[in-house]
Amino acid sequence: MKNYEKYKKLYDWKKPVNRTWPDKEITEAPTWCSVDLRDGNQALANPMTLEEKIEFFKYLVKIGFKEIEIGFPAASETEFKFTRYLIENDMIPDDVKVQVLTQARKPIIERTFESLKGAKNVIVHMYNSTSVAQRKFVFRKNKEEIKKIATDGAELLVEYAKKEPETNWYFEYTPESFTGTEVDYALEVVNDVLKIWYPFLKTKPIINFPATVECSTPNIFADQIQYISENILDRDKMIISIHSHNDRGTGVATSEMGILAGADRVEGSILGNGERTGNADILNIAMNMYVTGVDPKIDFSDLQEVKKIYEKCIKMPISPRHPYVGELVFTAFSGSHQDAISKGLQAARKNPEEQWDVPYLPLDPADVNRQYEPIIRINSQSGKGGVAFLLENEYGYEIPKEMRQELGYFIKDVSDKQKRELSSQEIYEAFAKEYINRKDKMSLVEFNMKTKNEDAINLEVVLEINGERITKSAEGNGPVAAFTKILKEMGYDFEFKFYTQDAQEDEEREGEKANVITYIEIEHDGKGIWAVGKNENMVRSSLKAMVTAINRILK
Ligand code: KIV
Ligand code: ZN
Repeated sequence: MKNYEKYKKLYDWKKPVNRTWPDKEITEAPTWCSVDLRDGNQALANPMTLEEKIEFFKYLVKIGFKEIEIGFPAASETEFKFTRYLIENDMIPDDVKVQVLTQARKPIIERTFESLKGAKNVIVHMYNSTSVAQRKFVFRKNKEEIKKIATDGAELLVEYAKKEPETNWYFEYTPESFTGTEVDYALEVVNDVLKIWYPFLKTKPIINFPATVECSTPNIFADQIQYISENILDRDKMIISIHSHNDRGTGVATSEMGILAGADRVEGSILGNGERTGNADILNIAMNMYVTGVDPKIDFSDLQEVKKIYEKCIKMPISPRHPYVGELVFTAFSGSHQDAISKGLQAARKNPEEQWDVPYLPLDPADVNRQYEPIIRINSQSGKGGVAFLLENEYGYEIPKEMRQELGYFIKDVSDKQKRELSSQEIYEAFAKEYINRKDKMSLVEFNMKTKNEDAINLEVVLEINGERITKSAEGNGPVAAFTKILKEMGYDFEFKFYTQDAQEDEEREGEKANVITYIEIEHDGKGIWAVGKNENMVRSSLKAMVTAINRILK
């Protein structure tokens, strides 16, 4: 590629003296703050309507967010009205803080406080840009002048908050474009803001460090956060928050490493909606914790609902491969993956008290209201395990291990011929047509079995072969042996190789007798031929399996 020399590193990298974050693990959830209704919403071509914002807000409360940025009330009438709506309709639970964004300018701050009259717990989130580029091109101000915007704003927040002592005030300051700001300068600005807020606030001030634009690998951001954490004024009296965007596709990793480096709080949005490539995806970060045994403290146990509300209010498509939520997340196309998943799931079902360890499935779909059915789709690359898994889980056939290979090849062949993936229904239909109760050439019309003595029975069968009925009988130590004798006497040449029966569990037949499924393999011309019989009667089920095998030889 040409032109790479045109670009330079944007970050000012501060390495902590004693770097500790790489050795850490995430062991508890940070404080989460959803910015779906502000950063996320402002990035939509069609921002949410009042009704949609209300619905989304209720959902965020329901799943456990305690800090929710509801908008930028001074920026538009809709945002102002929404803030008033929540307050006047008493929709903000006592344990939830709503957060509003404001620039560090007097008229904006004034209007922001106007929108908050009567609220119980509020985080006023003030920001101004501190980066080199913004100072130079946008504000044309030097470092001191930019810092003064922040400190003047900080004083105004105190002034306006004093007029409303009924409200519990929480303050947040963001040096916007932090990733393009010299780290020591950012520290200087936030420390001066803290000096103004500490004497007034009863609550811990929040200082938020955004990767407004992601411009480094996440480890650089983590170094910066550790350095800040070690040098910020009275660290234990304040809260370090982080707010990453996703320009390099590493918003989640940046937030995770930021937590390791000392951040107490994470701002982001569900599924990462936000400016440009979006914000850090809180669901992704939270679920990453969940699958390592850490309680994320947000309830994402219904991912179907997440998807529904996202599609309704945000109106953006979700990638089928989006972590945890995408349509294909619990699907395996590869045969070897399917086989391993099927074995892993069987083991998990047998020992539900054991910790989850299923190959290729980092998460039990049932824990997030996803289902087992769509886990495996069969296409021409699918192996034996996938087909057997599907027939067992969706149709109650426990295909014997020994039969799976032949069946796998058979289904693969059907898929190859169709040149497409087969649905589970199509797989079942192909299996049933080829293997179960066949009567295309020969069929069992009726049978009669009489006990001769302790060790022998006499079996009489009426068969229809190519439209002609014949009656035959033979003795044997059981119906299978007797029928084998009859068939051999009729000239069918085969050896019996495998026989098993089990009862089919079928919820739809509740109260009725269960079907008995017989699986047999015979050897004919040096080749194994599998067949399945299905009937409520054990003997009839066996005889039908044998008739099916003959039909398969005759084809
Ligand atoms: O990305 C950003 O820097 C922001 C701030 C206003 C927090 O959204
Ligand atoms: Zn942002």
